[in-house]
Amino acid sequence: MFRVAVFASGQGSNFQALADAAAAGRLGGATVDLLVCDKPEAPVVKRAEAAGVDTFVFRPKEYDSREAYETEIKAELESRGIDLIVLAGYMRLITPVLVESYSGRMVNIHPSLLPAFAGKDAIGQALDYGVKLTGITVHLVDGGMDTGAVVAQQAVEITAEDSRESLEAKIHAAETKLYPEVVAAFAEGRVTVEGRKVTLVGR
Ligand code: GAR
Repeated sequence: MFRVAVFASGQGSNFQALADAAAAGRLGGATVDLLVCDKPEAPVVKRAEAAGVDTFVFRPKEYDSREAYETEIKAELESRGIDLIVLAGYMRLITPVLVESYSGRMVNIHPSLLPAFAGKDAIGQALDYGVKLTGITVHLVDGGMDTGAVVAQQAVEITAEDSRESLEAKIHAAETKLYPEVVAAFAEGRVTVEGRKVTLVGR
């Protein structure tokens, strides 16, 4: 059994894609065992409940530090034997408490072709810059902001007709297809990591 925990803060379209893929047997045999969410009101919480996925929902303000809530999260992950942490629109920095325990076993998806447009509002940054090609990146999580080794990328074209909304829709469509494929590759042991060189066999 390969167990996945998804961390999310918002709409949860990526969470949904991962949960649907698991339910349909398209996640390399992995199960989505837990949603971790820092915003009790976020739509992703309802999605998890509807999908029958357990939730760990918390309010960061109720803790003294990031390390304090991550220590609780870590205990929850360990008690469930989680193999892979999948960040999907989780809008908080991760501290060494989780980074060190899940080194090579934590991925994030970012809506740009990193290292371009790291940080917040990558889609807005790309539109403001006027690039004609942007995309999505799945990367390992290290201590930095969107700096971990790249696992997979996919380009998305920006045309003259694109609005913010249409570009967001294209990015989300690409993400919800690519992310389950990458998680399936981890579950099937098809990912090798040598420093910054990450290889997905069979892709
Ligand atoms: C996704 O587009 C993801 O790439 C982005 O948040 C969105 C979450 O959407 N993540 C970041 O910007 C991380 N820096 P979702 O909640 O519908 O899955």
